[in-house]
Amino acid sequence: MKPELELLADSICARYDYDAVNLLPILQEIQSQSARNYISEEMARIIAQKLDITESRVYDVITYFSALSSEPRGEVIIQICDSTTCTVNNNKDLIRWFEEELGIKVGETTPDNKFTLIFTHCFGACDISPAVRIDHDVYGMLTREKVKELIAAKRGPVA
Ligand code: FES
Repeated sequence: MKPELELLADSICARYDYDAVNLLPILQEIQSQSARNYISEEMARIIAQKLDITESRVYDVITYFSALSSEPRGEVIIQICDSTTCTVNNNKDLIRWFEEELGIKVGETTPDNKFTLIFTHCFGACDISPAVRIDHDVYGMLTREKVKELIAAKRGPVA
């Protein structure tokens, strides 16, 4: 077991009194501390031990919440909603624009590990659908030009 993972898990779990009822926020914090935006197998095992729960319970939560991942991902997570309202309001164009701009398909990470593009369930932005969440910000009714701008802004200045 890596001591730095152990220390990180302890510092976060302690703030939640090692109470498994707080498993979701604990996992969110753990993931946010990860350079690759995910919860490793080893970390999942440590968290299960710290909270005295089964590893499968940890994985149930990781699997259920699309914002969590057990696979390494990019620095910026782009989540396109594929629930009913967004699908009806033609999220196909939105999907295509992001895929073309990033040069990847939904479910993939760019080779520079900067962006990961995934689907997600409704996150309550149906009134501006089709909607997308980039990290913690929500956008809707985008145009191709706006998608391009958003990605350029997240990419940062070109060296
Ligand atoms: S259905 Fe897409 S945000 Fe609600």
